[in-house]
Amino acid sequence: MILGTGHPVCHFDRIDSTNLEARRLADDGECGPLWLVSDEQTLGRGRLGRNWVSEPGNLYATFFFSIAERPLAAAQVSFVAALAVHDTVMVLRPELSPRIKWPNDVLIGGAKFCGVLPEVVGENPTRIAIGCGVNIAHAPEGTPYPATSLGAGLAVSAVLAKLDEKLSRRLAQWDEGRGFAAIRADWAARALGLGGSVTATSGTRQLTGTFKGLAVDGALMLEEAEGTIIPIHSGEVSFAELEALRRKHA
Ligand code: BTN
Repeated sequence: MILGTGHPVCHFDRIDSTNLEARRLADDGECGPLWLVSDEQTLGRGRLGRNWVSEPGNLYATFFFSIAERPLAAAQVSFVAALAVHDTVMVLRPELSPRIKWPNDVLIGGAKFCGVLPEVVGENPTRIAIGCGVNIAHAPEGTPYPATSLGAGLAVSAVLAKLDEKLSRRLAQWDEGRGFAAIRADWAARALGLGGSVTATSGTRQLTGTFKGLAVDGALMLEEAEGTIIPIHSGEVSFAELEALRRKHA
């Protein structure tokens, strides 16, 4: 166990992906809860099939745990995890004023420093892997979005210890879905773009409307001009508020 971390930590100097390791553990019948943490990843994976550049100096961690069978769990833990990262930074670096971008990116001044990849990695019982990549010492170059980092003065182990504490609290609040209303309200209070203009792109399809909030399955609810609500489950979204923030920080 790493000092200051409530859950056991399996540490690797180098691994393909901590989320893939969680899947292997689930295949072997393990249930967690535990953290899988690596100094670097050779096959770091991100959302939308992207890779996640994983060089030493940043946090690459997966929280692996099991829950009673609940169909919306995987969709909802995404918001639980983003809130926990937000909570962590509000303690360690409050002056950075982090915000959350749907569904689970955490940003500073419009630039992303954290991505979350939640996956169901096993059944009976349901095993969940919440992969968190937090840029601490450096941010990758060449990303399709502006990227930033928390700053080299923070130790990776300090971020992990605080994240463990905050994630434990948020998972307790979520209570396997029974507390999702409170999670959704807390998420909304920290989210970028709520109530403003949003554009969602999926393949060649593009929709523009107003960001009305989160559905119970985590979908972004986009209201078109004539009042129709369209649930957006995946793909790229851009918010007028975020674009304005990025222009301000450019
Ligand atoms: C995103 O694209 O926003 C999600 C990135 C998630 C990266 C983390 S790093 C630890 C874990 N292992 C992986 O391969 N991916 C996640």
